[in-house]
Amino acid sequence: MCGIVGYNGKEKAVNILLDGLSRLEYRGYDSAGLAIRDKKIEVFKAKGKLDNLREKIKGKRLKGTIGIGHTRWATHGEPSENNAHPHISNDGCVTLVHNGIIENYREMVLKLESHGYKFYSETDTEVLANVIDYYYKKYKNGPMDAINRTMVRVRGSYAICVMFEDYPDELWVARKDSPMIIGISDDGLYAASDVPAILKYTRNVYYIDNMEVACLTKNKVTFYNLNGDEIKKELKEIKWNLSVAEKNGYEHFMIKEINEEDEVIKKTFNSFVHNNKIEFPISDDELKNIKQIYIVACGSAYHVGVCAGYIIEDLTKVSVRVDIASEFRYRHLELDKDGLVIIVSQSGETADSLAALREAKSQGVKTLGIVNVVSSTIAREADYVLYTLAGPEISVATTKAFSTQLIVSYLFGIHLALLKGKITNKEYTSLIKEVSTLGDKTKKILDKLTNDIQKLSSEFANVKDAFYIGRGLDYAISLEGSLKLKEVSYIHSEAYAAGELKHGTISLIEDGTLVIGIVTQDDIYEKTISNLMEVKSRGAYIITISPENIDIPFSDYKIHIPNTSKYFYPSLAVIPLQLLSYYISVSRGLDVDKPRNLAKSVTVE
Ligand code: G6P
Repeated sequence: MCGIVGYNGKEKAVNILLDGLSRLEYRGYDSAGLAIRDKKIEVFKAKGKLDNLREKIKGKRLKGTIGIGHTRWATHGEPSENNAHPHISNDGCVTLVHNGIIENYREMVLKLESHGYKFYSETDTEVLANVIDYYYKKYKNGPMDAINRTMVRVRGSYAICVMFEDYPDELWVARKDSPMIIGISDDGLYAASDVPAILKYTRNVYYIDNMEVACLTKNKVTFYNLNGDEIKKELKEIKWNLSVAEKNGYEHFMIKEINEEDEVIKKTFNSFVHNNKIEFPISDDELKNIKQIYIVACGSAYHVGVCAGYIIEDLTKVSVRVDIASEFRYRHLELDKDGLVIIVSQSGETADSLAALREAKSQGVKTLGIVNVVSSTIAREADYVLYTLAGPEISVATTKAFSTQLIVSYLFGIHLALLKGKITNKEYTSLIKEVSTLGDKTKKILDKLTNDIQKLSSEFANVKDAFYIGRGLDYAISLEGSLKLKEVSYIHSEAYAAGELKHGTISLIEDGTLVIGIVTQDDIYEKTISNLMEVKSRGAYIITISPENIDIPFSDYKIHIPNTSKYFYPSLAVIPLQLLSYYISVSRGLDVDKPRNLAKSVTVE
């Protein structure tokens, strides 16, 4: 949801800002803009992708060494040049970029209008620039005071990077519930919504916390709390190298990231399993006492939750409730005090997941985050965090983070099952051993199936609808397959519990309709096969994904995956589903990594 970059240093800002924005485009790409200060602040904006902005400033000699940039995912106001950031206060005193939503912006508009302010855009961000301007002029106590007063006055979420006309050498940053990091190098200081934007220049970063303000000069950053007192922060080192945030010869990040899955699965497994024992940062006693588990997440992370729900419940016999975060947060559930709320999130910033976490904490229930982005808000606020080691994921459609989240879920289920006495030591060891093979099995699938699926995909590039069906865990992974297809290919698709099809959806099946059957679960596969037969008799074209030992003779196209334990098939079945979605999108000539209307990190409700 919008990407921000700021720079103040020795180099020309324009290239650093454009480069940073290009690495944040996954956060939004309906318009982009930047403000650069040489003698005075100049603002450039363009609708559409970053290249349009590049085109616009081509040939201009922008020498300024301080500036801010933004790539937008529209919330208030359509994607247009006028609504693009940076936004400027009425007399040009304040120029800012913003990620988030100001919820009481209408109230602020009325207040400001009564003081003679006028607005040129439909955005809450322009209002924010003017609120800062208002306090700046009213109290005449400088930038920090104006920003602090604004933070107290506005509601919502924001990360902002601000330039004041009167302070040519300073960049001001503040945040609440939207991510922001500050990088530092010999060449200058950087502010960014995410690490990849500045990884080329530095690995040394500070994490700015909620309701804190930072002032970036050319060679130093100073942090302040809401009272205006200076605060000290610890400099952290980012361990990633730049290549993880580059395409490395692949045509798209999505296919690069799919090809990284075997490695990141192993890495994640190895970070929790030592000498065949699972080690988690939660005490055994605490885990043993858990009576109820809630798994809460959004999008694909929710689908991991659905898989985890089946697996953990079956292994541990502890009841698991899986919820979509945006539903959970307003359901007013009275949570079991002996429960554990697990939040699954790649970014660690998803607004609804974060709100669900806070709701659980406010009820005094223990929380556990399964998170990919280190030091993200969910990682910092959860009582415990289990990091997935997927590395930076750039493609908007998640693939490798999804796979690592599954691995952590399996390990959690196995660990808890042993503690609860529901599996023997022997079963524990054998399950862990099986999880340890999933990286290699994933590699095998990639090597064996990529070309075939590429060919298959070109045949289905023009289908109108697709249905994904399965039972139990196969249904859970159908949800992900279907979401992946619709998000990157814009083909309508639905996932259905195979047994439920005949209660309505089967009426949509006609000659040639594409039905993808996931058939991996030993105890129920025959029932899914009957359901597939029902759609086949009505003319469907059937693709099946199953292990070698399950044969579906009437399937029109069979995809075989290696054998594993019944619990771990989601990891193997999802790979061909991701490949299928990717190659269908490519065949349709779409922008795979940046599908329309989507953003990777959804920091608004
Ligand atoms: C967006 C992304 C999805 C992701 C979901 C949840 O919709 O496009 O890929 O699954 O948000 O994000 P999170 O960062 O919480 O996993």
